[in-house]
Amino acid sequence: VSLKAFNTFGIEASAQRYIHITDESSLTDLFQQGYFNSTFFVLGGGSNVLFTQDFEGLIVHIGNKGIQHFIQGSQVFVTAAAGEVWNDLVWYCIDHDFPGMENLALIPGTVGASPIQNIGAYGTELMNIFYSCRAFDTQTGEFVTFSNEACQFSYRDSIFKNQHKGRYIICSVTYQLPLFGEINSSYGAINGELAKRNISQPSIKDMAEVVSFIRIEKLPDPSTVGNAGSFFKNPIVSAETFSQLQKQFPDIVHYPMNEGQQKLAAGWLIEQCGWKGKQVGEVAVWKNQALVLTNKGEATGAQIFQVSSNIVDDVFAKFGVKLEREVNIL
Ligand code: EPU
Repeated sequence: VSLKAFNTFGIEASAQRYIHITDESSLTDLFQQGYFNSTFFVLGGGSNVLFTQDFEGLIVHIGNKGIQHFIQGSQVFVTAAAGEVWNDLVWYCIDHDFPGMENLALIPGTVGASPIQNIGAYGTELMNIFYSCRAFDTQTGEFVTFSNEACQFSYRDSIFKNQHKGRYIICSVTYQLPLFGEINSSYGAINGELAKRNISQPSIKDMAEVVSFIRIEKLPDPSTVGNAGSFFKNPIVSAETFSQLQKQFPDIVHYPMNEGQQKLAAGWLIEQCGWKGKQVGEVAVWKNQALVLTNKGEATGAQIFQVSSNIVDDVFAKFGVKLEREVNIL
């Protein structure tokens, strides 16, 4: 089966076996037939994966649907099936006037992928609204529930990317939103855009529209330009490392974290190395955001990976900082 239509990089790769799941009970069937004893990979929207070769195993493509909510006091609990498109869920909440997801509008991918890397943008992270998820344990064949705490969320990270990598298949996610939650428009780019539109008291719909507008301006649309969003994570460095760097590079873009640590803007580091907008064969670094690698049309996954390695090397040579890939490499 060709995976080209199932990854937003638009890479041509094939899977030995492929199954599209629309009902979580099919996972039990697959378990009983022994499929999870050999190589498999769970695919959602394919927006955070780079196929560098054909996949010698089973691709489990999650396509279950459904969104429900119930209100309890001042909170609303929204449960969505893993196969729902993330942005559809965001707009379900906006249409129902449930605040909390508006800053995460237009992030590509599915609901099931949202906790895995604790998706985040414009001053909000998934961990702030995640209540629990239901997951299938491919080792025991049972369905289990993970609380927020059990997921061990941190910046672009969770237990599903670490200790339990590849073990659980997320079937649905429940989000807890405060019905009277506050709007967070502190992120610089958002503030500026709201001001331009003369909006001083934005509604959640205004926020989602502004966030979507900024994303469309800054990031390539995967339906026309193959890409997987940020290819690297923003690196987090110690206070000491940071003060050394800042002496040498006074303009370095940074965000303070806990205990004096600083998060650096990987896009800035990459741009300083001359990579922004650069093209190597069929691979290009996006002109408006150096953190995004794009496929000009015919790139192979291996070529994209090679360019990413060259970027890692250049950033390390100039800054002594090692970039980590955010995208799953297969
Ligand atoms: N910058 C540059 N050059 C660039 C890109 C960025 O100098 O080419 C500097 C600028 O100073 C800019 C700052 O970096 O102000 C921050 O850039 P941006 O607002 O675009 O955010 P980011 O830190 O590069 C992160 C997320 C994005 C998310 C945005 C907005 C990661 C790895 N990426 O990018 O997430 O949309 O913040 O909140 O944390 C994704 O994960 O796929 C993704 C797109």
